[in-house]
Amino acid sequence: MGGDVNSATKVLADPTAYADDERLHASLADLRAHEPVAWVDQAPYRPFWAITKHADIMDIERANDLWLSEPRPVLVTAEADDLARAQLEAGFGLRTLIHMDDPHHRKVRAIGADWFRPKAMRDLKIRVDELAKRYVDKMRDIGGECDFVTEIAVNFPLYVILSLLGLPEEDFSRMHMLTQEMFGGDDDEYKRGTTPEEQMAVLTDFFNYFGALTASRRANPTDDLASAIANGLVDGELMSDVDTLSYYVIVASAGHDTTKDAISGGLHALIENPGELARLQADPGLMPTAVEEMIRWTTPVKEFMRTAAEDTTVRGVPIAKGESVYLAYVSGNRDEDVFDDPFRFDVGRDPNKHLSFGYGVHFCLGAALARMEMNSIFTELLPRLESIELAGEPELAATTFVGGLKHLPIRCSVR
Ligand code: HEM
Repeated sequence: MGGDVNSATKVLADPTAYADDERLHASLADLRAHEPVAWVDQAPYRPFWAITKHADIMDIERANDLWLSEPRPVLVTAEADDLARAQLEAGFGLRTLIHMDDPHHRKVRAIGADWFRPKAMRDLKIRVDELAKRYVDKMRDIGGECDFVTEIAVNFPLYVILSLLGLPEEDFSRMHMLTQEMFGGDDDEYKRGTTPEEQMAVLTDFFNYFGALTASRRANPTDDLASAIANGLVDGELMSDVDTLSYYVIVASAGHDTTKDAISGGLHALIENPGELARLQADPGLMPTAVEEMIRWTTPVKEFMRTAAEDTTVRGVPIAKGESVYLAYVSGNRDEDVFDDPFRFDVGRDPNKHLSFGYGVHFCLGAALARMEMNSIFTELLPRLESIELAGEPELAATTFVGGLKHLPIRCSVR
């Protein structure tokens, strides 16, 4: 693109650009090289500063007293932002962990945290391995062509998260639809209706489902994450309805679409780099670094935002109190100053200080779970994979927030 910074900034505020990897990466490379702190003023979004260097993203996330999640944790249109705010003021809306700042954030995070620690992961591993086997068996049974995203990758992490929450498997299709409608909100294929009101109806459905769940887990607590959330105390009191329901929403949504994107994008990268696939098959001990590389490569969460609590500067650029920064994880993960040959997919990459799980106090609560799921499915699949190739064009979702492959048509032989 040769330093065309003006058009490069526009890309970040254009959902369709996220469905075109080459265009997105070329623009981000331009910004890193020429304007790493860039003002983006592009309707229908409110203006923001795009932060594209790895070191700046880390500095901002580390300084969580100066850079707040409230009131603008992610990039949404001005209209959607106003509506969400009005609904919260009316006592009905979404305020998840990612919307909160300390000290409240820390207390709310602690309620679910034990369910993501190593001991809980060890307890869950048998179930995760069993589900991984079920889906690799399904690939074998399909025998030939399938859409790896819709038939395999989407179901596996959803089942894992439903198991952790303690929800019944028959609720699978309902949760699947709702999380896609919520997280893939910019993409026509997932959209429910066209107005922000219709989009907010998705939230109402979520709240109705989880409202009933809370009542039942308070009446009859069981040994699962849903019970921990329903009965969790902040300063000795049960969480508010908004905080409780939002907790389920973040766990159900963040827990599966992100992982689906990393698994399907990871498999795509292995297909595109057969040498790396063969290397990993020959040396399964590389699995932990391969999983990290897939997570860096795909960067399922494209961005989070923070807002300045005081006048400050980033890389010498003055930023006024109340202005927001867009943390471009996709860019940080290809930063030439941090990654050796960043556009090379390397299953043995070490060190790999990617930002896909964010950094600091909001660091992804489910990172260990996502890593375990990916390890489990690729450890099951690769020794059984006799051949694999693309059977059509892979298609990326057009969304500024959480996204990856919508479709990955493959032809494979699995024993
Ligand atoms: C490859 C898969 C995943 C990716 C790329 C990912 C990415 C992220 C990112 C970037 C953040 C924000 C970090 C920040 O602001 O610094 C986050 C937060 C979070 N993630 Fe994940 N995530 C993944 C899987 C999961 C899973 C499986 C769960 C399980 C429930 C999960 C639950 C959460 C929660 C609850 C938060 C909010 C944490 C907080 O604000 O304190 N994520 N994730």
